[in-house]
Amino acid sequence: MSIHRIAVVGCGAIARDFHIPNIMANPRIELALTCDVDSSAAKECARQFKAGRASADWHEVVEDPDIDLILLTTHTNLRGELILPALKAGKPVYVEKPLANSLTEMLEIVGAVRETKVPVCVGHNRRSSPGILDLKRLLKKAVQGEGGWLPSVDRSHAGTREKLPEEQQIQILMRVNDDVRSWKDWIYHDREGILFAEMVHFIDVALWLNPTAPVRVFAEGSARGNFSLLIRFQDGSLTTIQHTLCGHFDYPKELIEISANYVTLTLDHHVELRQRGLIDEPFRITYPFMQQAGEDRLEGIEGFHQAVTRTFEEAQKKGTQPAFITPDKGHAAHLDRFLDCIEGKGENPCDVVAAVVVTRIALKLLESVRLGLPLPIGPEDWHIPDV
Ligand SMILES: NC(=O)c1ccc[n+]([C@@H]2O[C@H](COP(=O)([O-])OP(=O)(O)OC[C@H]3O[C@@H](n4cnc5c(N)ncnc54)[C@H](O)[C@@H]3O)[C@@H](O)[C@H]2O)c1
Repeated sequence: MSIHRIAVVGCGAIARDFHIPNIMANPRIELALTCDVDSSAAKECARQFKAGRASADWHEVVEDPDIDLILLTTHTNLRGELILPALKAGKPVYVEKPLANSLTEMLEIVGAVRETKVPVCVGHNRRSSPGILDLKRLLKKAVQGEGGWLPSVDRSHAGTREKLPEEQQIQILMRVNDDVRSWKDWIYHDREGILFAEMVHFIDVALWLNPTAPVRVFAEGSARGNFSLLIRFQDGSLTTIQHTLCGHFDYPKELIEISANYVTLTLDHHVELRQRGLIDEPFRITYPFMQQAGEDRLEGIEGFHQAVTRTFEEAQKKGTQPAFITPDKGHAAHLDRFLDCIEGKGENPCDVVAAVVVTRIALKLLESVRLGLPLPIGPEDWHIPDV
């Protein structure tokens, strides 16, 4: 097995809390270098996670023949400037979302990927969440199969009544429960706000789950937080993404509810998937989440709430801050799937073209919230010519 020698550029929250611990746990990767403009952050990360070296200059990473993979976890302040020379040097890049905040920069990255044939994976990691992968599988089964069994109340004459065109649509609701206190200051000075920086995850899932192209978007609220986003698709299907900043961080953040072909599917914070309608599937599937060592393992959404309650009770006794209990949102698997892609054993879990489309839709939603108007989406928004 070949070991990928990775450099992490940007030693902030996502790198320290998720990516670097995932790298440490992955036998296919070796943490060779940590880099941050803040040299103390780079050195502290190297010390904490036993990286070979630390650097304050990302140019060194790109030029270093001993590095063969780069994880870019800065904000969009550093994207094409690093990615373009890295690809020329033959180094694949895993870049955190958003891919970039200008179309020109995104298209330059697409051009470089096509020219060098060196892959870039974008951190739309929800696609690699075990719960979302099952959600997609069950949706496909609902849509392509016979659909949901007859309900307890049936006035459709056992399904023989003429079908409405609307019955073929896919309705999706994504509720994002956010807590204003959990964000660092930068987000409130950022020109694009949470609507852009964070919603790309949910827009990505919406585009990935819907079989037809988007035709119209509308956003209402404030781009900084507290907004509703509406995406309408060619077949009339609607996805609504509702975001609140006024919630509590330790209440489950992400709820996705889908109804399609008489089947209802709900993914609760990546820890529990429930369904009604598919007779040969269980009502509930549960997924592991991060728990404290030495404790009884809890499961599902009820287990998640119990685990959170436990940490709050302990924190109260000790007078400390409660531990953070987080579900598996696919970060580790997304990176691991990218290794398969680099080794020629699998597809890129999120290539740049898919990410450009997501990011363009997010930029359109930003425009919509500022104008207070619905905006049309056309092929030029979701199709990038292969030239
Ligand atoms: N996929 C996810 O679930 C997820 C979650 C959180 C954040 N993110 C994304 O990850 C990125 C980073 O977010 P964060 O919360 O870790 O931010 P952060 O502010 O905690 O960390 C960013 C780090 O990058 C460093 N940096 C900035 N410019 C640099 C440069 N030119 N060279 C080297 N280092 C530089 C900063 O000093 C800082 O340490 C953002 O794009 C964010 O949207 C993704």
